[in-house]
Amino acid sequence: MKEKLQSIREQAIADIENSANLETLNEVRMSILGKKGELSAVLKGMKDVAPEDRPKVGQWVNETKEAIESALDEKKKMLEEEKLRLRYESEKIDVTMPAEQRAHGNLHPITQVRNQLTDIFGSMGFEVYEGAEIETDYYNFTALNTPQDHPARDMQDTFYLSPEFLLRTQTSAGQIHVMEAKKPPIKVISPGKVFRSDDDATHSPMFTQMEGLVVDEGITLCDLKGMLDEFVQEIFGKGTTTRLRPSYFPFTEPSVEVDVSCFQCGGKGCKLCKGTGWIEVLGAGMVNKKVLEGCNIDTDVYSGFAFGIGVERIAMLKYGINNIKLLFESDLRVLKQIDD
Ligand code: PHE
Repeated sequence: MKEKLQSIREQAIADIENSANLETLNEVRMSILGKKGELSAVLKGMKDVAPEDRPKVGQWVNETKEAIESALDEKKKMLEEEKLRLRYESEKIDVTMPAEQRAHGNLHPITQVRNQLTDIFGSMGFEVYEGAEIETDYYNFTALNTPQDHPARDMQDTFYLSPEFLLRTQTSAGQIHVMEAKKPPIKVISPGKVFRSDDDATHSPMFTQMEGLVVDEGITLCDLKGMLDEFVQEIFGKGTTTRLRPSYFPFTEPSVEVDVSCFQCGGKGCKLCKGTGWIEVLGAGMVNKKVLEGCNIDTDVYSGFAFGIGVERIAMLKYGINNIKLLFESDLRVLKQIDD
């Protein structure tokens, strides 16, 4: 009996030692301590042992069982630790590795500049009015002091949809809608697409403008100039100034062309400003009294200024783009470079 137990014990310890994983170890446990295991078989044989020998044999059996159990427990603990170590090893991450780059899209350059302009004017207290791209001849021209046969109509080659309807040639059409709907004080910008039959390196048949309109008591050209100086510093950088040159628009009087000091050479003269130190950026002026009166605004009390910014022009200047077509060809090599 003693030998039998000894041999079970030795075999069990060897099997336990050789178990490579928890599953095998469990099989070993079952084959010895399980109901049909070897040690259980020995216990069943106790009935054949002489009664006086039973305590002794019982003790041997218990010792064997305890020895095997403690070997099993020890091995189990070892295998569990090993398993955990392997798991930690496989899940280890190097936090100093560069992150995986995900390709992400960005807004179209025109949308970006439009948003930047909207933010700047928004911070100055301008509201946004978005008009319609299809306009009537009245809002696009007549109400802007440009009646039929007015020579200024030739300044803009218009896409007519019918004698009455057209694709707006300028966001100035929005001025009339705003003044019809709102009493002064008025302070709005109106961004949107405009259309002209015009096509070369700096002109596209579809482009974007941002109109500005301020109407209140005592508004003067100085207010326009002051606001523009603030605006150009925000968009082109500190130190940029403006210069007003006389111009002509039917709906403003006086009318001005606004130049900014060249933000590339600081005014000394370079390729960008064609050696002049100044770059033309927008048209503006004091709202023509005829336009205000047409919208039932009392010109003895109120006056206003308006301006129209070419958004593509600003984008081209800001990002050094020399052909407007690059903005509309959807070439990702171009679009990806502009992400402000
Ligand atoms: N609407 C003019 C244009 O498209 C620009 C402008 C707007 C000029 C407002 C003066 C005032 O050329």
